[in-house]
Amino acid sequence: MRSLFCGEVNESHVEQEVTLCGWVNRRRDLGAVIFVDLRDREGIVQVVFDPDLAEVLATANTLRNEFCVQIKGKVRARPETQINKDMATGAIEVLGLELNIISKAAPLPLTLDNHQKNSEEQRLKYRYLDLRRPEMTERLRFRAKVTSQVRASLEKQGFLDIETPILTAATPEGARDYLVPSRTQKGNFFALPQSPQLFKQLLMMSGMERYYQIVKCFRDEDLRADRQPEFTQIDIETSFMSADQVMAVTETMIRELFQSLLNVDLGDFPRMPYSEAMQRFGSDKPDLRNPLEIVDVADILKDVEFKVFSGPANDENGRVAVICVPGAASKVSRKNLDDYTKYVNIYGAKGLAWLKVNDKDAGMEGLQSPILKFLPEAAVTELLARTNAQTGDLILFGADKNTVVTEALGALRLKLGEDLGLTVEGWKPLWVVDFPMFEEIDGNMHALHHPFTAPSDLTAQELEANPIGALSNAYDMVLNGCELGGGSVRIHSQEMQAAVFRILGISDDEAEEKFGFLLEALRYGTPPHAGLAFGLDRIVMLMTGATSIRDVMAFPKTTTAACPLTNAPGRANPAQLVELGVQAIPAEAKADDSE
Ligand code: AMO
Ligand code: AMP
Repeated sequence: MRSLFCGEVNESHVEQEVTLCGWVNRRRDLGAVIFVDLRDREGIVQVVFDPDLAEVLATANTLRNEFCVQIKGKVRARPETQINKDMATGAIEVLGLELNIISKAAPLPLTLDNHQKNSEEQRLKYRYLDLRRPEMTERLRFRAKVTSQVRASLEKQGFLDIETPILTAATPEGARDYLVPSRTQKGNFFALPQSPQLFKQLLMMSGMERYYQIVKCFRDEDLRADRQPEFTQIDIETSFMSADQVMAVTETMIRELFQSLLNVDLGDFPRMPYSEAMQRFGSDKPDLRNPLEIVDVADILKDVEFKVFSGPANDENGRVAVICVPGAASKVSRKNLDDYTKYVNIYGAKGLAWLKVNDKDAGMEGLQSPILKFLPEAAVTELLARTNAQTGDLILFGADKNTVVTEALGALRLKLGEDLGLTVEGWKPLWVVDFPMFEEIDGNMHALHHPFTAPSDLTAQELEANPIGALSNAYDMVLNGCELGGGSVRIHSQEMQAAVFRILGISDDEAEEKFGFLLEALRYGTPPHAGLAFGLDRIVMLMTGATSIRDVMAFPKTTTAACPLTNAPGRANPAQLVELGVQAIPAEAKADDSE
């Protein structure tokens, strides 16, 4: 139906006849002539209808935005004065000779040229229209380039693309499962995979050596800008490779991706132990574009009278730390400080003491702080030296339980970096390594990654003797404060796997019921194996500069995990429920917490 795309018409086509198909992006009626910006996936071209062809002009007069049309016309160079340098096709225009209205369009329920006016709900309800916006089209096109480049890169390195089941048993990755009732086995349920973790490990046991898959994963968890209930992983597993080798292979893939699609050299990927990331940046995914750091000062403040500081400073689970913000003393007002205090309250911090260094050379006189009276001069002097504070700097304090201070100052660091414009442009990748194997929450042990992650250099007996101190052989790739991917060396001995299940409080019976197939598979000659999974949506979000992964998915869900376009999730037909042996409890009925 077309001879070329709108966005492809250029000066080499001048004097040629072309047939174009697309949508009316805009129509301008100048009385005698009508200009139509015609849009398709590849771009926009200007079509002119003039009075020489009265009948065509009359049809053009009936065009409205978003009509779908076919136009035959002749390409001509624009006069010098009308060349539009901002438009890829701005040096030419097409004189419309024939116009065929394929489909008329009713007035759209959302505006395409000023999309800020549309609510997120509206954009998702009419997603197919929202995707007509060139910005959205461009993001999906970019996403396709990413998957294509990823495939090329991995296949070049000997990886096989192998599919794993979507209807499966629960895979523990820390979220709730989406369940699917079985009709043939009433009362039983499939779970949608939170990741293909166990299948990819089984594929290593099958001798597949290098597996990858670009695969949908499903997690029923609290949603945020970088989390969706169904999302896509670039899932990778290898046999006979060390953690270093897996990191090298996957780093190469990410490097090639940025080089080929953005012409960006990502430079070095430094490695940082988890403990250092938490200590210095208050996060296991530090944004290294932000120059602020958290500095521990408990040793300096443990003897001061001010209990707010000396309490946590003398508590083994406490932390007293500061952030010194260069040049912020005059920029941050009392009102701002109140707002920052409210901000850290969200993370459980009870306050946010502050100190402004108005004139470093003037000693205590040059400092300003509501808590100055509680602090001896010697402590203040040491504090200024430790933080390397200079005239004009602002020091903010956190004193509480370790977890509270770390989380609150970690979040505050990011906010200050953004508010004060301290976070620089560019790309700052790193690997976070040496994670603890387990964390204790309310007396229960949880795997920090997943229960199939191997410990670093420990026997099963050593691990069981001191699980809380054990480090895992896991690694996360972080870019600009976003966790792009995570993985680990896996447990390949049945003894170690059984020990980890015991530490996690999974009884032998439960382990047998849920993971018996894995424990059995580990008996038949399991190779050492290791892998990693990247969040494709997050990679595309970062690379396109989008602020949410929703903007790089064709049909995402809302923050309440619904689809306004299809009205999913919806009520099931009662007959269908009977067939499935499932009874729906109406929303009003309170869920039984004891379940
Ligand atoms: P993990 O749970 O860390 O590891 O997930 C890997 C990567 O997937 C992305 N991701 C998400 N993206 C969007 N929405 C979500 N809800 C979401 N959850 C995770 C992140 C994350 O880094 N099986 C292991 C990997 C392995 O060990 O090989 C796993 O799934 O970018
Ligand atoms: P108060 O003695 O409660 O009036 O607090 C004096 C100053 O210390 C105020 O600026 C509070 O914001 C701050 N502050 C109180 N509790 C904490 C805390 N746990 N960590 C840091 N600063 C605090």
